[in-house]
Amino acid sequence: MSAFAVTSRIPEPALELLAAHGTVLGGDRDGPLPLAELAPLLAEAEVAVTLLFDRVDEDFLTAAPRLCCVCNVAVGYDNVDLEAAARRGVAVTNTPGVLDDATADLTMALLLAAARRLGEGERLIRAGQPWAWGMGFMLGSDLAGKRLGIVGLGAIGSRVARRARSFGMSITYSGRRESPFAAELEAERQELDDLLRDSDFVSLHCPLTAETRHLLGARELGLMKPSAVLVNTARGPVVDEAALAEALRAGQLRAAALDVFEHEPAVHPGLLELDQAVLLPHLGSATVETRLAMAKLAAENAIAAASGAELPTPVSVPEGWPAA
Ligand code: GLV
Repeated sequence: MSAFAVTSRIPEPALELLAAHGTVLGGDRDGPLPLAELAPLLAEAEVAVTLLFDRVDEDFLTAAPRLCCVCNVAVGYDNVDLEAAARRGVAVTNTPGVLDDATADLTMALLLAAARRLGEGERLIRAGQPWAWGMGFMLGSDLAGKRLGIVGLGAIGSRVARRARSFGMSITYSGRRESPFAAELEAERQELDDLLRDSDFVSLHCPLTAETRHLLGARELGLMKPSAVLVNTARGPVVDEAALAEALRAGQLRAAALDVFEHEPAVHPGLLELDQAVLLPHLGSATVETRLAMAKLAAENAIAAASGAELPTPVSVPEGWPAA
């Protein structure tokens, strides 16, 4: 019987799925939990089901000597040290595909919230401020006729692009290689600097890697139009948050709409002061349906790993895995 360590609470049906195939350790408390509290579970486990806030590093892996697989309940896996896992013969899986629509929906919500000043309007009413309809009152900008620059036209970026086109936007994108979605979306590929210079809206959909950390710093933000809006539903550290707060304050770009932060859950104090920053607490995949699908997919990976079967959605599988 395999033991599955589940680092934090996940939807019940996914726990039931795991329980039908082995012993479930944990999964009944909201995280993130410190490693000291996870260690007793990890000590027994063949498979760990982790959340994006768990740091799966040398210390975590050391606490889990029997581990053969880490199943991250997220499409991003920047929280997992892949090299350390591979050195120990530990495979890693993620949950691609099942959260693309939810994340694209939230991206559109942020695009609209920034363009039409939804946060500001809400705050004004709730603060009991006097207001009246007026020709010049709280004007935002249209999406139709505007250019959306997508950094990373992959599974999520392409869904954002599809939605944006139905709002009348044109699409360009940047990325390391040609996107298979480009032709269908009539999306032209640009160098990042050109995309930043030309776009009315910029939306980030690249993974967080060593190459994309601070992809947008003071220099890059300085290239954007003063009327432009930046949306980030990818990972916080892709943007230098201090530089963004300063660029917004200085009027180098008009607005930013952020679902993710560099030092989550902390938010740079400079952003909190700015009306032109729309700030959400990492809700990209936060729908009942999507979170259930993510947890089930992670559980399916965990069950496959426990029996040494082919992993449904692997990120990395060490040579010779599973060890006999
Ligand atoms: C959410 O941010 C994810 O990577 O799944």
